[in-house]
Amino acid sequence: MDPGSIPETKCWTNAALADRTTFRIGGPAARLIAPPNEQSFAGVYAEALRAGTPVYILGAGSNLLIGDAGVSGVVLATAGLQSRRLVGDGTRLRVGAGASLSEVVWWTARRGLAGLERLVGIPGSVGGAVKMNAGVREGAIGERVSRVRVATTDGGVEVREGHDIAWRYRSADIEAPILSVEFDLERDEPARVEARLLAALAERRAAQPVNEPSAGCFFKNPPGDSAGRLIDASGLKGRSVGGAYVSMRHANFIVNRGSATAADVIALCEIVCKRVRRDFGVSLEKEVCCWPYATA
Ligand code: EPU
Repeated sequence: MDPGSIPETKCWTNAALADRTTFRIGGPAARLIAPPNEQSFAGVYAEALRAGTPVYILGAGSNLLIGDAGVSGVVLATAGLQSRRLVGDGTRLRVGAGASLSEVVWWTARRGLAGLERLVGIPGSVGGAVKMNAGVREGAIGERVSRVRVATTDGGVEVREGHDIAWRYRSADIEAPILSVEFDLERDEPARVEARLLAALAERRAAQPVNEPSAGCFFKNPPGDSAGRLIDASGLKGRSVGGAYVSMRHANFIVNRGSATAADVIALCEIVCKRVRRDFGVSLEKEVCCWPYATA
């Protein structure tokens, strides 16, 4: 084997993270490691746990707000987990956790494989999308997941069956880092799948500020209602703190004007929560994952 072709684990110290998030916000990571395959990912994960280091798993950074001081532990990126393979009768897709969900959606559509097309435009990695059961009004990704491979705390790999996973609105009971996912798809005419995909994409582009830096919908929808509708009805569209503002296009998006800090976003988030509670008696819950706030 050509030694140049052996994939290597990439490792950085004091690594900038802001450009690895769609929000473009956040301080550096003490260490950033991107293993090239499942085995080495699981090994590095176990090693960090043994050392007692806080471990953060980074996918596409699309549903993530990183604090301005960054994170002191190890950030393990799934970017190297990019395998993609059709198995069985060709309707089962095995894909690495680091693959871009949107790319996978287009790839399956072109091959006449239906089931993921409504998820087009969700700017996440496959692993991140599965972990939070990302979705749209009509359904979520968990409905198509037949298996998930995760890293164990002792450096091994465990398989979880899709039907054993508790899929809830924007969450799944998967605590361990996801390494790869298997989707069950159906055959259809590529043109029909692509037509549905393009319709879903047009709908998303019309309703959401997809070309501006954000972390997607900032809050979860409260049962039976829409956070965007409530924030809008509270008159908060355009409200800003520093470089962060509530999108005029969709009120559940907090957008980074270019210079926003995490502190700006958190302060704006608090204003929004307070106002919606006052006006509607509803407590909004963040959908966006926060580092290191969540563990503070
Ligand atoms: N609305 C407003 N003002 C706004 C935004 C929305 O009045 O600024 C109203 C709309 O007119 C509509 C209702 O609120 O009557 C629902 O809005 P929309 O159809 O945009 O859906 P959503 O509930 O705000 C959810 C998901 C989105 C997903 C869309 C489309 C959540 C938190 N959001 O948004 O997912 O793309 O449906 O299926 O579940 C995400 O999770 O990050 C996300 C963007």
